[in-house]
Amino acid sequence: MKAALSTLELHLNGFTPRVGVVLGSGLGFFAEEHMEVLGELPYSGIPGMSHPTVNGHKGRFLWGRVGHASVLCMQGRLHYYEGYSMQQITEPVRLMTQVGIQTLILTNAAGGIRDDLVPGRLMLISDHINMMGDNPLIGPNDDRFGDRFCDMTYTYCPELRTKAKAIAEKQGLLLSEGVYIAVSGPSFETPAEIRAFRTLGADAVGMSTVPEAIIARHAGLRVAAVSCITNKAAGLGSGELSHEEVAREAAKVKTSFAEFLCSFVESC
Ligand code: HPA
Repeated sequence: MKAALSTLELHLNGFTPRVGVVLGSGLGFFAEEHMEVLGELPYSGIPGMSHPTVNGHKGRFLWGRVGHASVLCMQGRLHYYEGYSMQQITEPVRLMTQVGIQTLILTNAAGGIRDDLVPGRLMLISDHINMMGDNPLIGPNDDRFGDRFCDMTYTYCPELRTKAKAIAEKQGLLLSEGVYIAVSGPSFETPAEIRAFRTLGADAVGMSTVPEAIIARHAGLRVAAVSCITNKAAGLGSGELSHEEVAREAAKVKTSFAEFLCSFVESC
């Protein structure tokens, strides 16, 4: 962890990011196409850091400016289903915290459970349900970051959510809001699981984001998260689910998603 931090600091070369952005499935293009890139570092160049094994997840930090905001992007995240531990998949968030980010914006692809959450829709996460069966804070508490018992009442910053909704409205973008339920994957859910999740109060389902949000809140960061709905959840659409469909649908909302994210990042 110490070597990882000094490596990232060395490459940042005095650049202090204030906003961290995690780019999910099919959303990695944002960093190259919408940020004035000042530097990059592949995860493989960071001692001890794990790297993504999934198509569509590149695995590098990119930093630079979006308007006046100094931003550190994760182009590709680590997933629990890759076999990494909760601590491994959230290490990048701790690194981003240590180099100065104060706000973390998480993005992901998700399956829509609520009727209006159709492919192409963006959903601002208002709250989450952790169905991953694990928690990145299990184990000895690292007091440098936060307390043993971490409050999760306001996980997704109310002020940032208000800002996000105002930006979307100004841009004429339909931004829904809802509860994200996180599962471990990598198998997609069964229709019975989706019916159960709907009953539990979930609006969209995915395989990421929650561990990062927990670690970020533990460290006192402001967190916001946006899901790109890429498919109707299992049993609610017409056929089977595939990663290709997820990537294809995420690519379709590229332009409006990027426009929204640029303004949102700048406003943080
Ligand atoms: N389920 C879980 N994760 C997902 C889905 C889904 O339907 N779509 C995109 N990521």
